[in-house]
Amino acid sequence: MSNPSYERGKSIDNSQYAHVSMPISDNIVALKDAVFSHPAVGILKKFEENLKSRLLTRDEIRVLLASEGMFVLEVPPGIVALASRMTDEWFKKEPFAATGRASRILFAAVDEYGLNDMEHGLLPSHHQLYVDMAAHWNITAKDLLDDRNIVPTAKEFAGTIGDYYRKRPIVEALGFHVANEATAPLDFGVFLATFREYREQYGLKAQNDPHLNFLLVHDDVEVSHREMGVEAVQLYTNGDPKLVSQARRGVFAYMECYGRFFTQLNDRIFGQQDTRARARA
Ligand SMILES: [Fe+2]
Ligand SMILES: [Fe+2]
Repeated sequence: MSNPSYERGKSIDNSQYAHVSMPISDNIVALKDAVFSHPAVGILKKFEENLKSRLLTRDEIRVLLASEGMFVLEVPPGIVALASRMTDEWFKKEPFAATGRASRILFAAVDEYGLNDMEHGLLPSHHQLYVDMAAHWNITAKDLLDDRNIVPTAKEFAGTIGDYYRKRPIVEALGFHVANEATAPLDFGVFLATFREYREQYGLKAQNDPHLNFLLVHDDVEVSHREMGVEAVQLYTNGDPKLVSQARRGVFAYMECYGRFFTQLNDRIFGQQDTRARARA
């Protein structure tokens, strides 16, 4: 080490930098309520009930993972693009503040890219963990990209994610991002609970079987990603009602896709079962 008195990440007194937490305007806190009270969350709940009602076949798991994989794929590069757009925009106005502010978005990408434990080196990226999880069911990366295993709304959702993170006005993209980070522990949590429900039948050796690492990681990190996203909205809008209502549009755009996606995924996997149940009723 060239300078023995410097220790990476430990030699700086963080308390002098006002970036650890900040007051958040009520209308920005309300963005989270808009996510959690959205009907799409109820659609996910219904899907969860079905997922837990029986063991899934391998073909069904392939549809589940390939379809969900479409938006798992889009998010990390989208986050990097949004952080870059924010940096460039602020750079023109306050160049020395730009990177420190956009860090609230880039922060989420640190986990996505496996950079969050650099004292020990690189970790697997979330995409790599996703492929490892699928491999437990002999589902390959090629299977995950095969259109036959993917419901159409997953493709549409992926396209919308790409569009919001890269092209839509930054303030709308920030709302979209908050909704993404806020909902990720919900759907990944449903998958985790489902695989644990039938742990032995799915050949998983423990509650925290390493094949579930992708889901376990998200259980751990997403709330911090969401909260950083909320801070980014605060920094970008300063609570200005007009701007916050634009961010809110981004929240609703995400939730709308989310609801349509889980409706279609539910129909594809459980459609016949639902029909039988209706026929019996
Ligand atoms: Fe992730
Ligand atoms: Fe995240």
